[in-house]
Amino acid sequence: MKKTGLFYSFNTHKTAQVAQKIKELWEGDIDEINVEKASDDQLMAYDNYIMGVPTWFDGELPNYWDELVPALEDMNFKGKTFAIFGNGDQKGYPENFGDGVGIMAEIVEKQGGKVIGYTEADDYEFESSRALRDGKFVGLLLDFENQARKNNSRIKNWVKQIANQMVS
Ligand SMILES: Cc1cc2nc3c(=O)[nH]c(=O)nc-3n(C[C@H](O)[C@H](O)[C@H](O)COP(=O)(O)O)c2cc1C
Repeated sequence: MKKTGLFYSFNTHKTAQVAQKIKELWEGDIDEINVEKASDDQLMAYDNYIMGVPTWFDGELPNYWDELVPALEDMNFKGKTFAIFGNGDQKGYPENFGDGVGIMAEIVEKQGGKVIGYTEADDYEFESSRALRDGKFVGLLLDFENQARKNNSRIKNWVKQIANQMVS
């Protein structure tokens, strides 16, 4: 049985809200891991990873993820899949919209992980994003500030999509 882990900060409000929705919609077992307290063993323990990575500080990872980067850069993620979601604000930070999702995708790919759950970027308005690759986002971008009403359908579609793309 392949193991799926949902990694996010339990101290967030909006990211935690999205994580709860994902958990509710998930069919099958899923463990929740607080990234603020995650051990190296926990970071390596899964086959499928769902990561909640909002963007902070004008295009940076939040501190709790940033502190884990050296550990992540020491791990071998070959054979593992990663689905990354993240909150951003496309009007407030149009030049760095959802950069965190792209930064995390690059980190796990460098360690051999496979990033799944790409989504269309058409329905957003921004100038640039590190999450964008060949016209698509390398994960799910949510915008509570400007497009909160779209959250539920975006999450629902994405959960269906990643469930099909994960290793089973
Ligand atoms: C100081 C600050 C910097 C931010 N920088 C960015 C940014 O560079 N890009 C972006 O898309 N959103 C940015 N945001 C918006 C947050 O990502 C957004 O509010 C998100 O919903 C936060 O999610 P969280 O509360 O779960 O951490 C920033 C917000 C703040 C307060």
